Amino acid sequence: MVDEGFKVWQRVLAQGSRIAETSLRELFVQDSGRSERFSRTLGDDNGDTNNQIFADFSKQLIDQQALDELFALAKDLQIVEQFAEMRGGLKINLTEHQSALHTALRADIKTSVIVDGRDVVAEVHTELKALRSFVDSVRSDRKFKKIVNIGIGGSDLGPALIYEALFDNYQSFVECAFVANIDAHEIKSVLSKCVAAETLFVVCSKSFNTVETLSNARIAKQWLAEKLGVDIGNKIIAGHFVVVSAYPDRATKSGVVAANSFKIWPWVGGRYSISSAMSLAPMLAFGADVFDEFLAGMREVDDQMQNSVPENNLPLILGLIDVWNCSVLGHTSQAIVPYAHQLKLLPSYLQQLMMESNGKSVQVDGEPTSMRTSPVVWGGVGANAQHAFFQMLHQGTDVVPVEFIGFAQPTHNEMLAHDILIANMFAQSKALAFGRSLTEIKSDIGDDENSQHRVMPGNRPSTTVLASNLSARTLGSLVAMYEHRVFVQGVVFGINSFDQWGVELGKTLATEISSSLIKPAESGENLRDSQDASTRGLINWYRLHRGNR
Ligand code: F6P
Repeated sequence: MVDEGFKVWQRVLAQGSRIAETSLRELFVQDSGRSERFSRTLGDDNGDTNNQIFADFSKQLIDQQALDELFALAKDLQIVEQFAEMRGGLKINLTEHQSALHTALRADIKTSVIVDGRDVVAEVHTELKALRSFVDSVRSDRKFKKIVNIGIGGSDLGPALIYEALFDNYQSFVECAFVANIDAHEIKSVLSKCVAAETLFVVCSKSFNTVETLSNARIAKQWLAEKLGVDIGNKIIAGHFVVVSAYPDRATKSGVVAANSFKIWPWVGGRYSISSAMSLAPMLAFGADVFDEFLAGMREVDDQMQNSVPENNLPLILGLIDVWNCSVLGHTSQAIVPYAHQLKLLPSYLQQLMMESNGKSVQVDGEPTSMRTSPVVWGGVGANAQHAFFQMLHQGTDVVPVEFIGFAQPTHNEMLAHDILIANMFAQSKALAFGRSLTEIKSDIGDDENSQHRVMPGNRPSTTVLASNLSARTLGSLVAMYEHRVFVQGVVFGINSFDQWGVELGKTLATEISSSLIKPAESGENLRDSQDASTRGLINWYRLHRGNR
């Protein structure tokens, strides 16, 4: 941060020290209009309330003065301008010499973004057209009844999230299954429920270097050949494979021969690829029109992030509050708790989006970061989470900001159950914020030997996000909102949110170690030179017990 920026940041920190002296109870007493003042609506200004997202952040430990300093920080760092530059194709992913153009994946066809002399928006729409025609033909052909998506990280979590989230709300034409792990128990279990002649494998890998995906594609191919009674090189097998990659030639070289392939581009980060052909599996399930709706929801939020004034810019505000909680108030984790069973994958999806993007300690200029960066992101669905980890959220020694997400209209008609679900969500945020003091306990239920244990400290922050229903459009808007929150945090932290060097060493070491595992313990190979004592011990134990299979 430059000098002026440093001063602005110091002012934000000073707000943090001031606010630590107050409490949510006090803030609500001081300001009777707090609920209106600290909530915003995101979405269609023209009145289609079905597509709106309402966010109440009044239960965050923040006041107007602190928020104003955060706005000053946003202005000083030119966060919105930087977002516009990213959207315009500037190569902000400096370590990989790439643009970060996930927003181009849903850009209006009438716009253009030129990168290295090419209009990427035109390329995106050409690909979308090809995807639509493939999706339509598979859906009308009716040969494939099961889609197995093979991919990991962003090549799994994005499409799986869409499929699970929209399954109840849209008619699904095919059943989808998702295989990510190199632990072959996963693919074996999925394949045991597939009929080979009716199964289409969508192999998603941006890099096509990912060992988990290559291994699973190999197993799928062998399984198909065996079940269909054909040679592994038979072109019938290729007809059961589709590849989605930025490097389709690598797929062919690695033996994954596919009759169809769709491209993504090096400028799409894996965890930002949900709006690309990586989501082919849910596109096949729900149709290209539904996916278009999803993209429209994202585009709306892209436009709002770029064009709204800070005071009305919800992704910006929530991103700043994320910074506030993590880097100013020092909360080291953040819980994501959707009260919507269809969003059960959202915590995992956001874990990758937030932690792989911002879990870094080196700034863009190579210097160490000056502040705490990504919190640990975790969570689970409500109400199940209440019976699992909420005890710690209410009375534990660490304060964990919570993000509640719920919908007014479920896809089922069990409104009694739904009302109770949502009542629980509201109750949790209320209990977290306001707690219950010893005095209140004594006056409400009397004093007994457990009174101290019943004390709820309160003052635990949360944001509640509400929408009418979980439509494709709302889902797109929600996901884009989180993407942009991550962007906001990355700018404040001064880091590159679009690389992931931290995952590389583990991959290299795994390759080295895997060649040692298959040697028998008595082979005499000298692990002493290549491995530390602990890893050597583990390898030797494994070798002794794995047998010679
Ligand atoms: O190793 C991390 C990562 O590169 C993620 O960023 C990515 O989503 C995942 O692996 C899968 O990568 P690919 O799509 O190239 O197989």
